[in-house]
Amino acid sequence: PLVTTNEMLEDAYRNNYAIGAFGAHNLEIIKAVIAGAEKVGAPVILQTTSSTYKYVEMHYMIALAKTAAEQAKVPVALHLDHGESYKVVMECLRAGYTSVMIDGSSLPFEENINLVKRVVDAASAINVPVEAELGTIGGVEDDVTVEEKNAFFTDPKLAERFVNETGIHSFAPAFGTAHGKYKQEPQLQFELLEEIHRATNVPLVMHGASGVPEESVRKSLNCGIAKVNFSTELKDLFAEQLRAFFIENPTENDPRKYFLPAREALIELVEHKIVMLQK
Ligand code: 13P
Ligand code: ZN
Ligand code: NA
Repeated sequence: PLVTTNEMLEDAYRNNYAIGAFGAHNLEIIKAVIAGAEKVGAPVILQTTSSTYKYVEMHYMIALAKTAAEQAKVPVALHLDHGESYKVVMECLRAGYTSVMIDGSSLPFEENINLVKRVVDAASAINVPVEAELGTIGGVEDDVTVEEKNAFFTDPKLAERFVNETGIHSFAPAFGTAHGKYKQEPQLQFELLEEIHRATNVPLVMHGASGVPEESVRKSLNCGIAKVNFSTELKDLFAEQLRAFFIENPTENDPRKYFLPAREALIELVEHKIVMLQK
């Protein structure tokens, strides 16, 4: 069965490694993520935003994840990524998600706290852990000055209050990563991350890991990062493989053939990412 992220994240956090969390957009990607995790023998998190489960349709999403978890040789969790409202989180809890993120990071501090607290109250009643974010994890624009960029980083003092007052189980800080591709190599703020780590004392989550150099990801594992989110690199590789296949085989019409190389490539990518997150 699907497990919660409680035990896997606690173990990773205590032992300085991290769990890979992968954006799961369809059957092919779900199967590849599970197969990649099985190759390493590591627990894994399938995650979807609300637009993904709307696209797949919730009952399919749950059935796919449950079936994957039942057959898998490793623990599997289904996590809501960037849940945008109380209502969306409740929908996922009712449907059977085993982990949720509520993203109130665009709200004023106190409003963010109030929203997250309500979600933690509801989710804790069924023992589902909650992730939340403070600060702004965004795309960093070329013409933004360092001072302006700093304004988006998570303040460790506020992080401490945020975690204590909300009772969240994992925390996503803004320390220099961004969603999507990077225009230049990301400059992660490891001293800040270390301060946040000491101030919060809960597993930390790295968002925007696509495009972060392996060395930086590995360094973050010693600063409390226990969950690492990948999406863009999977989407890029999947699309690249399909494009290459159809250029070579422009008349192929059999999904059982044209999805295969994409699936195989994703298995390898996921395996590689999870190995990178090991101790
Ligand atoms: P990337 O698309 O940069 O891998 O970010 C993924 C993510 O943080 C999902 O929440
Ligand atoms: Zn994210
Ligand atoms: Na990224």
